[in-house]
Amino acid sequence: MASGAIIRIEQLTKTYDLGEVQLTVLRSLSLSISPGSFVAIMGASGSGKSTLLNILGCLDRPTSGRYVLAGMDVSDMGDDELSDMRGQRIGFVFQQYNLIDQLSVVENIHVPLAYQGLGLSECRDRCEALAHRVGLSDRLGHRPKQLSGGQQQRVALARSLANDPVMILADEPTGNLDSSTGREILDLFSELHAQGKTIVMVTHGDEVAARATRVVQMSDGRIVRDVSRAQREMAGA
Ligand SMILES: Nc1ncnc2c1ncn2[C@@H]1O[C@H](COP(=O)(O)OP(=O)(O)O)[C@@H](O)[C@H]1O
Ligand SMILES: [Mg+2]
Repeated sequence: MASGAIIRIEQLTKTYDLGEVQLTVLRSLSLSISPGSFVAIMGASGSGKSTLLNILGCLDRPTSGRYVLAGMDVSDMGDDELSDMRGQRIGFVFQQYNLIDQLSVVENIHVPLAYQGLGLSECRDRCEALAHRVGLSDRLGHRPKQLSGGQQQRVALARSLANDPVMILADEPTGNLDSSTGREILDLFSELHAQGKTIVMVTHGDEVAARATRVVQMSDGRIVRDVSRAQREMAGA
């Protein structure tokens, strides 16, 4: 595919060593994703979606194969380099929000910047602007426990944007939300996509697939279907 791909993986495998047995979870996956895509990754529980997303996000390493992220080969990077890639280029949103209970909304949004050595005082305007962008201007000092699930996921989304990442990886971000709250969160993702962000989202929901520019279906560690929106529209789906 295009050499300008933001993600390129080639024959990626992941095997967990469980002592007695070797569990192969990703089986020779190859995939290119171009900038500005909104990719939905679907598949049954246990098919390897989260494992793939964690490798794409430099949270985990493949057992073999190649991964080129934004033109850089991360396959052989050491832990420090990987963590720099993660901190500077990737935003994460998880099903469980993963906010820090002791910190306020603004402080949670600031966390990725703190990792980069930037203090809250120098970043406060930026963090407040992000809170505004996700509709939480009037909740800046609240703690996560004082917020609804949907509001907490908004904080997580704002936090994922703090370092101005080249892509956002989201693992079932609406999995804990009721359908109307989930739809509001998806609206935010759609807005970000319209503004040019690359989004890769693991999901069970057909509604996400309908918004995505591409749907990748996994089964037992393999990509079994990979359909772009253009192809879907041509097929009259
Ligand atoms: N750290 C791990 N150690 C051992 N096995 C794991 C680990 N993480 C995931 N697995 C196994 O890998 C398979 C794929 O898991 P996962 O990527 O979480 O699938 P999905 O997100 O599609 O539900 C599952 O069988 C799971 O039990
Ligand atoms: Mg999963």
